[in-house]
Parts: sequence; structure tokens; C-alpha cells
Amino acid sequence: MSEDPLTSAYNLLENAVVQFRGRPVGTVAARDPHGAAADNYRECFIRDFAVSALVWLADGKPEIVGNFLETVVYLLDQELTMEGHEIQPGVMPASFRVLDGEHVVADFGNRAIGRVAPVDAMMWWVVLLHAYIQATGDSQFARRSEIQNALCSILSLCLKGSFEVYPTLLVPDACCMIDRRMGVYGHPLEIQSLFYGMLHTVGDLCVERPDTKALIENAAKRHTSLRDYVRRYYWLDEDRLSEVHRFHTEEFGDGSNNVLNINPTSLPMWVQRWMPQRGGWLVGNLGPERMDVRFFALGNLLAILFGLTTDQQAQGIMDLYEARWDDLVGDMPVKISYPAVAGEEWRVLTGCDPKNAAWSYHNGGNWPVLLWPFVAAALKVERRDLAERAFETAAGKLARHQWPEYYDGQSGRLIGRRANLDQVWSAAAFIFSRRLLEKPSLLSLFPG
Ligand code: GLC
Repeated sequence: MSEDPLTSAYNLLENAVVQFRGRPVGTVAARDPHGAAADNYRECFIRDFAVSALVWLADGKPEIVGNFLETVVYLLDQELTMEGHEIQPGVMPASFRVLDGEHVVADFGNRAIGRVAPVDAMMWWVVLLHAYIQATGDSQFARRSEIQNALCSILSLCLKGSFEVYPTLLVPDACCMIDRRMGVYGHPLEIQSLFYGMLHTVGDLCVERPDTKALIENAAKRHTSLRDYVRRYYWLDEDRLSEVHRFHTEEFGDGSNNVLNINPTSLPMWVQRWMPQRGGWLVGNLGPERMDVRFFALGNLLAILFGLTTDQQAQGIMDLYEARWDDLVGDMPVKISYPAVAGEEWRVLTGCDPKNAAWSYHNGGNWPVLLWPFVAAALKVERRDLAERAFETAAGKLARHQWPEYYDGQSGRLIGRRANLDQVWSAAAFIFSRRLLEKPSLLSLFPG
């Protein structure tokens, strides 16, 4: 008889644990019995481990999470160069691997596709540090000097002066969960949501000293201005779409409506057809003369979870899920982005990336790991029915399919062409979603 899905998920998670000098410090990304699609899936990714960590925090076993947080800080002392160029202090690795149980080597993007440094890693680390303290009550952990130094480097890097006028963070393509070129350079929503979540924790985590006072004040200002900006300019619903549709361009000076000079004819035709009467979403990216209206799940769901949206916007995003369930959840929760890009647009945006073909992988694929932020966001805004519906859809298949990394197709019906099996964050997301459904008070782990 085959084991039940929860037991199967725990077995995968426990067998994925990585030891460093006799202590558990992380989990590998995949344990595919046939060999994973790339060598680095045997490493511990920061963003992937965040999901494993949530399971252990929920289960009252925080030790591995504390060890992980320390190990990542320890890695920051390694020489920070990529292709001979120095990496800025504050940047955290995408992943690390342990050699012979005694040595740990970080990958700051130097072995990653396109050699992009992960911007999200430092943000996940801070969000996880906050969750660890919420779960254990051990606020002394954050006060340790090495942890405070890491926090200061991260904040200094994110808040340092730049040519930017707006409070959003300007980043390169492929620097987050979508770690291949997908036209998500500039001000992608996922990074803004994580940035906001991270800034939200500063008051709790950072110790005010004469040398950090200005930094902490700066973080508080940015927190508010980022929130106001995203709520106002990223939001799209039927009313806002009409407004954008009637925008005048090249307005100068104060009092302009169309501050980013968005040309309404640049909006793709699918938006009008797809926009529900009730509900809306935060657009994927926004910059001068550029509004990428694609729907990106992780950015929207984290925005709800971390309180970046207004309550009404949060409900609106869930209304969108309800109205467009087949497109955004379909056969496997949850679709990473909608719609897929194809043809000439795919050539230009992805650089002809075959892994990111339409309705696959990062380009409209369905990712079981996104079940947990969906369940968390739905519970946060009291839409338990949607959380349960998504969970049931996943529960019937994931273990039987052996925890695939992603699914392909418009409704996410097929196991992804190059998806790993035994992908650890697919199993961890399933367990944590189940724990959230049993105990919604676990939402207090998150800032917001
Ligand atoms: C893929 C994903 C990335 C993840 C990694 C390891 O590259 O795009 O987000 O961290 O696999 O699972």
C-alpha cells in the first residue's frame, strides 16, 4: 500500500537535510532519483529552504532554522567575487553546498544561469529571521553582533542612494524565484513585496545604535513610501483600467495623472477580455513608459501576506482567483505567471529560452511550491474556501506524481517537461499549507 501524502512529504523533507560539522543546516533543492535537471539542485537554496524552515517552525523544531541563519552569515565572510568582479556586502548567496560535511561553499550567482546575484535571498533571510524569533521568542538571537552586522549590510545596500526617483527597488532580470530571463528586470512585483516584508521587520529586528539610527529611520520612511506607491500605481482593476485607457501621454509638471507616461495603446488586448468585473491585481512590473500587466502569483500573494495591499485590494486579488480559477489554479495550484508569452514576444523577452517555452516553467507553468503563499494569503483575508479548494486539488496528485517541481500546459495538467521529481519545496509547501489550514494562527510568523 502506498504511504499517505503527508508521510511521503515528511520523508522527502527529512531525507533532504544537509549536515555541516555535525549539525543540520539546510535542505537540498531536489532529490530526483533520475538525476536533477542541473547540478546545483543538490545544493541548499536560500529561497527553497525558507519553505522547509516554515515546516520546522510550525512543528516546534526550530533548531535547524537557527543553524541555517547562522551558516548563511558565516558564508558572507567568504571572498565575494564573481567573474573577477567584487560582490557588494549585503548580497546573500543563492545557494550553498557542504563538502565532506566540513566545508561549505557559497554560490552568489557565480554558478547560476546568467550569473545573476539573487536579490531575493537577503530578503528571505530577513523574513525567516523574523519568523524564527516569532516562533521561538529568542530575541537575543537577533541581537548578536554578527546578525546585526548582516542586517545593517543588507539595509545599507538596499537603501543606498541611486538614480531612482521612486521608492521601488531597481533590479536585474532573473534575480528572484524566476531566475532566468523573463522580462522581469526593472521593478518586478515579487521583489517589491519581499522588500516591503523585510522593511516591515526592521523595527523588531534592528538594534538602534548611534551608527544605525539614520539607517533605521531611512528604512521606516521607505517602508511607508513603498507601500503608498505600490498601492496606488501597481493596482489594476476595471475602474483603473478605464482610467489608464483614457490616459493622456506626455503630460508635464505637477498634477499629471499619467506620471509614468504609460501609453494606453501599449496594453495588450487580453487585459480587457480577462479583467473580471469584481477584483483586480497588482501588475507585474512598472517603470517609465512601461506597465507589464502580466499577473505574477508570488508577488501578489506575498503582497497580501505582508500587508502591502489594502484590505480591499487583498480581497480583490482573491476575487480574481475565484473568477479566473481555471487560468490561475487549474489542475495544479498555482500558476506562476499569466498569460504565457509566445512567438516574437517570447524571443525578445526570454532570449529564446527553450526551458521557458509558453505555458512551461517560469513562463506560465504551475508550481506546487506556490500552494503555501496561496493558502496563507487566502486564510489571511478569510477566504478559507479558496484555500481548501486549492489544497484539495494538490493533495490528490502531488505524492502520486512524486512531488514534481512544476507542471506544464495552460491548465497545469502535465508534469513539467524538465521538472525534477522529489523537489523538496513542493513537499514542504504541501506540509506547511496543511499546517496553516489546521492552525491559521501560524500566520503570525509573517510580517504584516
Ligand atoms: C529553479 C527555480 C528557483 C529555485 C531553484 C531550486 O531555478 O527557478 O526559484 O530556487 O530552481 O529549486
